Amino acid sequence: PQVCWLSPEQTAGKQKPYMYTQGQAVLNRSFFPCFDTPSAKFTYSATVKVPEGFTAVMSATSWEKQKDNTFVFKMSQPIPSYLIALVVGDIVSADVGPRSRVWAEPCLIEAAKKEYDGVIEEFLVVGEKLFGPYVWGRYDILFMPPSFPFGGMENPCLTFVTPCLLAGDRSLVDVIIHEISHSWFGNLVTNATWGEFWLNEGFTMYAQRRISTEVYGLPYTCLEAATGRALLRQHMDATGEDHPLNKLRVVIEPGLWGVNPDDTYNETPYEKGYCFVSYLAHLVGNQSKFDAFLQAYVNRFKFQSITADDTLEFFLEYFPELKEKGVDSIPGFEFDRWLNTPGWPPYLPDLSPGQQLMKPADELAELWAADGLNMEAIEAVDITGWRTYQLVYFLDQVLQKSPLPEGNVKRLSKMYPKISKAQNAELRLRWCQIVLKNNLEAEFSKVKDFLHSQGKQKYTLPLYRAMWGGSETTRALAMETFSATAPQLHVNVQNYVKKILGLGGAE
Ligand code: BES
Ligand code: ZN
Repeated sequence: PQVCWLSPEQTAGKQKPYMYTQGQAVLNRSFFPCFDTPSAKFTYSATVKVPEGFTAVMSATSWEKQKDNTFVFKMSQPIPSYLIALVVGDIVSADVGPRSRVWAEPCLIEAAKKEYDGVIEEFLVVGEKLFGPYVWGRYDILFMPPSFPFGGMENPCLTFVTPCLLAGDRSLVDVIIHEISHSWFGNLVTNATWGEFWLNEGFTMYAQRRISTEVYGLPYTCLEAATGRALLRQHMDATGEDHPLNKLRVVIEPGLWGVNPDDTYNETPYEKGYCFVSYLAHLVGNQSKFDAFLQAYVNRFKFQSITADDTLEFFLEYFPELKEKGVDSIPGFEFDRWLNTPGWPPYLPDLSPGQQLMKPADELAELWAADGLNMEAIEAVDITGWRTYQLVYFLDQVLQKSPLPEGNVKRLSKMYPKISKAQNAELRLRWCQIVLKNNLEAEFSKVKDFLHSQGKQKYTLPLYRAMWGGSETTRALAMETFSATAPQLHVNVQNYVKKILGLGGAE
């Protein structure tokens, strides 16, 4: 399941086949023999011979092309097995910074260069200022075929990303900042077990938003974090707050009652993890002191694999006055409760600096949810200048209030072609969710088109869940779309969709 072989039709250029690997969480054992646990780290080298007209790239610190289409790679820093990755395809590269280039199929390379030319270095520099040296040498980005199941994957030296990021306006760059943040949290300091995946993702979300705050300011970053909180809300509503996967520390055991580590890929480790790290920062009460702690933490545990106990013990050692005060056992906020109790985070960071951007969106959503539409008030709001995440936030509010009174969504669609005809994947996802929740049959084809155009898990599963939870018509749409697109989807995503559709997929 680890090695994905794509036919030419499954690539952007449709000319040549393509292969890629995706190791996280426990798939690399089917790629090469290894101790496939994040608790073990090692260096590696690889010699890869490919057919004429193909290029091989790997997550490695050095890369050399020899004769006979043979590529030699070396990773000189110890990494866990899940971070080894290989792509072979018709791919080319273009420089976008002093230590960064983009890789893509020839037909996408212009767009890829345009999207990120000159912006990557600033993220790296800010990351280094906050968290310490960037130890991986290069930071390159590879745009994957449309069926790549993730927004991004932090393979060291070479992040893999979905081509959905090619929005033309850099509006989805938070994914890149996220993967860059893994250069410290995840790739240097690594969760020792997948049961503590939140150590990778929660710290990375925090680091991502620290970099974003430095580069784009607090209001915008709070707006982005608010869209993350909305995803956590949706996830907990869908699964139930008490679901055992809605705690930060998950019990992963083999066998009938065990959890497959891939199943822990949901909003909890990300956004509840982010809340816990924000809570630790709140206990410290001073951003620069907490930043200094994060840097010391990376330095203390770099190239190691650790558990949350190591993290929290180090935190209390680093701030002895907090240890003295017993901050690990404040009733309702016990560290133990954060780790082991499912449910909504007991502490939420203050996102009010984003109010200036969120309030107009909240008010507009309110207007659209009303029974008799106040068109005068609606027309007075000009959304042409809104940023993508402001629109995303607005749509999440509309979705939360859906189904809207009869006719409202149809009207909304007409009024804002910028939304209902958007090419931006984050907007398309929300629009499709709204279309389904409001049973807007006239636009069901958009759901189908979106699912045909890409295979990202976080876009695909919510739409199949919504279709399956809807009418006979949407159920039929789900079946029809899945049978047409299944061969293009990553096996994991295929199995999750099968499970949603009751087709006996992965448990
Ligand atoms: N490492 C993850 C992707 C992943 C998680 C792959 C679990 C396999 C198993 C990556 O860093 C990630 O979190 N990607 C997000 C980006 C987002 C949070 C900005 C994604 O793909 O949505
Ligand atoms: Zn991540």
